[in-house]
Amino acid sequence: MNFLNLILKKRNGKSLSTEDIDFFISNYVQGNISDYQVAALLMAIYFTGMNERETADLTFAMRDSGETVDLSDIDGITVDKHSTGGVADTTTLITAPIAAACGLKVAKMSGRGLGHTGGTIDKLESIPGLSTSIGMDRFKDIVADCGLSIIGQTSELVPADKMLYALRDVTGTIDNISLISASIMSKKLACGSDTIVLDVKTGSGSFMTERKDAENLARIMVGIGKMADKNMLALVTDMNQPLGNAIGNALEVKEAIEILQGEHDGDLKDISTALSVNMILSSGLVQEESAANLQVISALESGRALSQFSKMIELQGGDPGVCEDTALLPQADQIVSITSPAKGYVSHIATGEIGGAAMLLGAGRAGKSDSIDTSVGIWMKKRIGDGVDKGEEIAVFYVNDTENLEYAKAKFQNAIVVGAEPPEKKPLIYNSIS
Ligand code: URA
Ligand code: CA
Repeated sequence: MNFLNLILKKRNGKSLSTEDIDFFISNYVQGNISDYQVAALLMAIYFTGMNERETADLTFAMRDSGETVDLSDIDGITVDKHSTGGVADTTTLITAPIAAACGLKVAKMSGRGLGHTGGTIDKLESIPGLSTSIGMDRFKDIVADCGLSIIGQTSELVPADKMLYALRDVTGTIDNISLISASIMSKKLACGSDTIVLDVKTGSGSFMTERKDAENLARIMVGIGKMADKNMLALVTDMNQPLGNAIGNALEVKEAIEILQGEHDGDLKDISTALSVNMILSSGLVQEESAANLQVISALESGRALSQFSKMIELQGGDPGVCEDTALLPQADQIVSITSPAKGYVSHIATGEIGGAAMLLGAGRAGKSDSIDTSVGIWMKKRIGDGVDKGEEIAVFYVNDTENLEYAKAKFQNAIVVGAEPPEKKPLIYNSIS
C-alpha cells in the first residue's frame, strides 16, 4: 500500500477502507510515514469528511495503537465518564463517588490537559499527599476494594492520539467531528470500562458552540461505543456560563467536597447527579429513572458518597481530612473582590474568557511544560439571570502572583455583560442520546 494513494483517495472525496485506515495508523505510529504526509491526509479529511464507518475504524485502529486496560477481572460493572470540557466543570469529583456509593466500579483514567485550569488529575493532586501515578495493579486493587480510583493516563495508552493531536494542533485540523470523535473514543475504549457516559458541552465555554454540532458529536461517539459493545449514553449540556462557582484546582476540589457534604445546590450538582443517574441506568443496575434517582439522593444524603471519596483519597496516599475540613487544601495568599460596574441583571458570560482570567492568575497551563498553582483561581458569586447592584461583589479572585492581576481583572470584567432586562433562561440539559 502506498500512503500517497490514501491521500489522493481522501482528497478526491472517496472513503478509506478499514485496511487503509489500519495501514495509516500502524505505520504512522511505527514512524514509517512522515508528518507532512499525515498532515496532508488530515487536511483532506477536514475538507471531505469521513463517514461513520471510517470514523469507527479510525477509532478502533487508534485504540489498538498501544496498550489497552483490561478491567474484566473486577467484580461488578465498571464505568467511566468523559466531559468534552468546560469552565468550572468539576463533575467527575462528584459523579464518581456517587456512582461508587451506588455500587458501580469507577475506574477512571484522566488527563492533565491544557487550558484554564488543570485536568482532573491536577485538581486531585492539590489534595496533600495524594498520588495519581500508583501503577495499574494498585489502581485495579483500589477499584475492586473501594469502588473508585482515579489515576493519570499512562503514556503507553493510545500513542496514535498523542501524535495525531500534536499534528492537528499545528495544522488547523482540530475541529473536525470525526477526528474529535476518534480522539476521545479511542482513549475511552482503551481504558476498558463496561459503561461510558459522556457529557458533551455546548455554549460559549465549550469547543462546540452550536447545539446541533454538540448533538452530532454525541450521536457519533455513542454509535462508536455501541459498536465496541459498551453501554453508552451522552448528555448534551449547557456551557454558556461556568458550571460551578469555582474555577481553579484546589477551589474546585473544595466545591466538590461541599456538594458531597450537602452544602450547595445548583447546576454543578444537578449535572453531576444526572450523570450518576445515567451511569446507573446505562449499566442496567436498575430499570427505572425514579429508582436511579432515589439511589443517587440516598448516596448523597447518607454521606456515603463523601465517605467513598474520602476512602479513595486515603488509599491513594492523600489526607482524607480534607473531606471534613477543606481549609487543609492549599490556600492562596490574597483575596481580591471583583465588583459589578453597573446595576441590572447578568445577561451574558463569555465563559471561555472567564477561564482565561483564571489562567492568568496561574490556575491553568498554556504549554505542556508550564507549572500550575493549585491554590489560585476565581470563585463566582453570580449566575446568568441574577440581579446585581452597582458595586456589588460578583466574584472573588484567589491570588498569589500579582504580575497578571490587572490584566486578569480586565479580562474578567469584559467577559460579564450586565443588562437592564433578565435574559431568557436556557435549559441545563438539552438532550440525552443513547
Ligand atoms: N478532546 C480530545 O481528547 N480530542 C479532541 O480531538 C478534542 C477534544
Ligand atoms: Ca466486571
